[in-house]
Amino acid sequence: MSDAPIESARRALAFVEAGQTLGLGTGRAATAFVRELGARVAEGLHVRGVATSEATAAVAREVGIPLLELAEAGPLHVTFDGADEVDPQLELIKGYGGALVREKITAASSRKLVILVGAEKLVAKLGERGKLPVEVVPFAADFCSERLRALGCEPSLRLEASGAPFRTDNGNPILDCAVGPIADPAALDAAILAIPGSVGTGLFVGMADAVVIDFGDRVEVRER
Ligand code: A5P
Repeated sequence: MSDAPIESARRALAFVEAGQTLGLGTGRAATAFVRELGARVAEGLHVRGVATSEATAAVAREVGIPLLELAEAGPLHVTFDGADEVDPQLELIKGYGGALVREKITAASSRKLVILVGAEKLVAKLGERGKLPVEVVPFAADFCSERLRALGCEPSLRLEASGAPFRTDNGNPILDCAVGPIADPAALDAAILAIPGSVGTGLFVGMADAVVIDFGDRVEVRER
């Protein structure tokens, strides 16, 4: 993402209609979108949001977007989020920011998923950036690590800058798995989810409907 992701956020706003309930993603690109959306709300646009993280909820409140809990929102119209990798089929790896499980639940609750990325996130094959985040329950961290290793994914427990284990908004640790280009993302996702104690992976297969790409000097929208 360039230093001015505002144009991408503005292009993404074309997917918004008055009266909609929107999923609000996590990370830098999603935050830029939430701020642009907040500016439209201040001008009188009526929409409501469901936040994918406490951090995003705080920004949404700051810019005046009314928030709902997912349980009270019903099906969402569109979710807007960032990503860490996007392949040519618009399949994604997400979760470098640690909100992958709430992001996937929110995306799955939405009729449409719109992703905002910088061109540096485009890859020929998912896994090229070398990392696949997997959220696990604390009790199962060692067990899941062993099973992930057996699948060929070398896990490392994500740590805070302080050295303490990172915890998601769900209270869970993340195992960042060292991967190379992934031959079959859907099969790997299914194999990891079959490990007892694994809560979710950063593989978002068949979920994105549109990707708004910031090339620095221009913005392109690719749709599935
Ligand atoms: C959060 O868990 C992630 O999925 C983010 O959406 C992703 O890491 C992209 O974040 P940036 O827009 O900050 O790169």
